[in-house]
Amino acid sequence: MDTWYYSPYPEPYNSLEKLYLCEYCLKYFGKKKTLLRHSAKCDLRHPPGDEIYRAATSPTIAVFEVDGKRNKVYCQSLCLLSKLFLDHKTLYYDVDPFLFYILCERDQQGYHIVGYFSKEKCSVEGYNLACILTLPPYQRKGYGRFLIAFSYELSKKECKVGTPERPLSDLGQVSYRSYWQRSVLELLYTHRGQLSIKDISDRTAIRTDDIVRALEVLNLIKYWKGDHIISVTQRVIEEHLRILDKKKVMGIDVSRLHWTPYV
Ligand code: ACO
Ligand code: ZN
Repeated sequence: MDTWYYSPYPEPYNSLEKLYLCEYCLKYFGKKKTLLRHSAKCDLRHPPGDEIYRAATSPTIAVFEVDGKRNKVYCQSLCLLSKLFLDHKTLYYDVDPFLFYILCERDQQGYHIVGYFSKEKCSVEGYNLACILTLPPYQRKGYGRFLIAFSYELSKKECKVGTPERPLSDLGQVSYRSYWQRSVLELLYTHRGQLSIKDISDRTAIRTDDIVRALEVLNLIKYWKGDHIISVTQRVIEEHLRILDKKKVMGIDVSRLHWTPYV
């Protein structure tokens, strides 16, 4: 995998041309030979946490929740790996206050990491996601959208609205904007009768200012008597959804999500 940015792996790993990682425990090695020796002994076949979601249909994906405090080394290794693809994040070693949600593809061999997001156990700012990554070979297949949707499903279970930690990268920005727009348009499309921005926020767990910004881009927001209002016809919604619907969306079967909020 080609990498994008600097990541503070300890000496001497940070100056190597190539790093070898165990895909299960994320330990890193300077030589292929050492990795192979490790792999012969490493019996981990999934992230070291609880499987909280398993899809019943293809693609055969699963999500694990890993506690940064209980599995510190794994989470630090994950942060070092993800920093290779993020230029503005600074969390590498202080992983205790975070939970990590690891998305995997499942097959006969085990659970192969595809991407993840992290979430503060307790966020005063109301963040429901700190960092998100889809590993480059898996990008642009809908996994990022799945992870974002998953973060909002967790917020719904907490009966809270949420928003991602800022700043967003360019790729984070396009992915979120697309998610917000589609979620709101789908709700407007299926709902009969009036819906305020607050109603939409309550149903989607998306913060009202994110809804406003996403709809502004589509030119669907008007400012009236000091308030933002959605101004749209059913035909315009259909047109927007037709453009967005060209891609198949990987949905979440909420009945298969087994999770209780962190206390
Ligand atoms: N160019 C244009 N659009 C893109 C691109 C791209 N390179 N990548 C994704 N998108 C769009 C997709 O078209 C899609 O929109 P659509 O459904 O309307 O077509 C939407 O973004 C989501 O696409 P996915 O395939 O679901 O996303 P992906 O699995 O590629 O993951 C992610 C997106 C996580 C942002 C990925 O690009 C990534 O890991 N980037 C590097 C790390 C990063 O920047 N993370 C976000 C930092 S911000 C934060 O962590 C809070
Ligand atoms: Zn290992």
